[in-house]
Amino acid sequence: ELGDFEHYMLKEIFEQPQTIENAMRGRFDEDEATAKFGGLNLTPQQLRRVDRIVLTACGTSWHAGLVGEYLLEEFARIPVEVEYASELRYRNPPLTDRTMVFAITQSGETADTLAAMRECKRKGLSTLAICNVVGSSIAREADGGIYLHAGPEIGVASTKAFTSQVTALVMLSLFLGRMRHLSYQAGKRIIRSLKAMPETIAKTLECHDQVQEVASRYWNLENFLYLGRLYNFPVALEGALKLKEISYIHAEGYPAAEMKHGPIALIEERTPSVFIVPRGGIYPKVISNMEEVRARKGPIIAIACEDDEKVAELADEVICVPEVEEHLQPLVTSIPLQLLAYHVALLRGCNVDRPRNLAKSVTVE
Ligand code: M6R
Repeated sequence: ELGDFEHYMLKEIFEQPQTIENAMRGRFDEDEATAKFGGLNLTPQQLRRVDRIVLTACGTSWHAGLVGEYLLEEFARIPVEVEYASELRYRNPPLTDRTMVFAITQSGETADTLAAMRECKRKGLSTLAICNVVGSSIAREADGGIYLHAGPEIGVASTKAFTSQVTALVMLSLFLGRMRHLSYQAGKRIIRSLKAMPETIAKTLECHDQVQEVASRYWNLENFLYLGRLYNFPVALEGALKLKEISYIHAEGYPAAEMKHGPIALIEERTPSVFIVPRGGIYPKVISNMEEVRARKGPIIAIACEDDEKVAELADEVICVPEVEEHLQPLVTSIPLQLLAYHVALLRGCNVDRPRNLAKSVTVE
């Protein structure tokens, strides 16, 4: 089953051009410049009434939810909250019958996510799932939802499920956006860049050798910071989680500008910062955050677009990714971070597919 790959994690990372394609298959309505989903089980009238969305999940799926928040608010202009399922299940936030809840989960068996979903259902809310495993508990109990079609994910560290979740959330934002404020032209543009994504991801994977070299220079350090802004802030959290769980290195993700409110105290010669700094968005602001790190002698590993001279000047290492629209950047920028965690863990002699203390699905509270 592993084919040419040494580990499931690496195999799953390299499956991403295909899994993203699978998440999109049959889900575009070109004439209407929108997405379509077979299983939401809600009428256009019901969907049009939604005035708030709650996304609930754990771990990596929660990070995908954070990307979803930015996407849904930007394209559909619906207020979104992203709740840790373990908190939501015991909280009592004011939700109305116009709130739509999505549980995001690869396995569909995560105990906290299932419990949060049941709590929302009990309150009579429309509760849907964005789920990979067909027929899992969450998929069965949800009122409807979106399957990821990513195929089995064996590695404990979630990789392809994350990019599939983000793809599903881009499509959901397109769909809900087109029911509201998003123009036909804007819809068309999103569809065009989504359709190019499998190829873009294949190109992104060409950074593999570069990442491996970077890993060989940094694998024996004990603290890492991951910094990004806007759409790349959740990517920073996700990159840090990947490194923590499989290499047992302490890593923290932050919105880059928050650094000066505390984490900057950690910067020194043995604490590298991984900056996610593709062009677009508030790129110049991230550059000045990089300057702040550099001034304190912190090593910088940058995930940036090709031919970025400014970044090359400031960073010790540059890992290049293709340039894509801002809202699609997480699909691209998360990939070198998955590879970085993989190679660092490998060099440290860790069991990448089955890290200590972790299970693939957390079915206990
Ligand atoms: O199956 P789920 O998506 O519900 O799992 C949620 C988390 O347990 C999971 O994403 C976990 O954080 C991964 N090990 C991260 O790589």
